[in-house]
Amino acid sequence: MAAVRGVRSIEMDVANVDRAATFYARVWNLTEVERRNGSVYLRGTGRYHHILALHPAKGHPAFRRMVFDGGDRRSVEALHAQVTKAVGKVAAPQALDWPGGGWGFGFKDAEKRNIFVVCDVADHKDVADVSDRPRKIAHVNVNSANHNACVQFFSDALGFRVIDETGGLLFMHCDNADHNSIVISKDSRETVNHVAFEMPDLDSVMRGAGRMKDNGYPIEWGVGRHGAGNNVFAYFAGPEEFPIEITGDVMQVGPDYVSHGPDFWKFPPGRADQWGVTAPHSQRWKRIQDMFGFSEGGDVT
Ligand SMILES: [Fe+2]
Repeated sequence: MAAVRGVRSIEMDVANVDRAATFYARVWNLTEVERRNGSVYLRGTGRYHHILALHPAKGHPAFRRMVFDGGDRRSVEALHAQVTKAVGKVAAPQALDWPGGGWGFGFKDAEKRNIFVVCDVADHKDVADVSDRPRKIAHVNVNSANHNACVQFFSDALGFRVIDETGGLLFMHCDNADHNSIVISKDSRETVNHVAFEMPDLDSVMRGAGRMKDNGYPIEWGVGRHGAGNNVFAYFAGPEEFPIEITGDVMQVGPDYVSHGPDFWKFPPGRADQWGVTAPHSQRWKRIQDMFGFSEGGDVT
């Protein structure tokens, strides 16, 4: 079984690319690497060429696609075979003419999410952590009306496994040391719940939350520490109300990790995290975590 190595990047269709790009560069602290055809590409401090792409929306703001790190060509070919078996005919891997280049394939999963699996991208060599700057996408949390089928797809096609399960969430681990890279929310629709960006340390998460407040983006939930994954979190409505999280201290796991189910991960009444400091999440957070679907149409390229 071949498995992806993590989430490389997430792409959003936004109404105002310049305004969003200014926010993600100056407040969220990513670094712009390229502009092409009206789209803006930004990197973290990690090696990936870019971790966020902002495209001009043709219709409503939406998530355009998730791009997974397929490792090498042999692994991408094996993943292509697995995906083909899971979702039907998928165009063969090919050279990609987009910023960073690379080689890979795209498809829609059974719940109409646009997904790419790529390798051989022109990644960066300067990868030292920088305080207050995100390294990479820590996880994407996707809502699913049919979470059993969703788990099956991510497992059979992309090589994930369920590493922990709470009452409402399934945490999916792939071929890296992070506790999870995809989280599936048991929901009623196929939308994106949120995207989490990983900070290098706890102080960078805390200062990031302060920086967001300073810039007019209140904390919608947090700062707190989750149970499963043990990561510290703060959630925000970003530009155009995209649901974004800064996180840090993500649990690193090996093959000896012991998984647990919903009973184990229950918090005592009145608690929703390990610390008990944060207020409950805002109504706005509840609304925006079920607001953005994937771009419609067959346009996965
Ligand atoms: Fe999260």
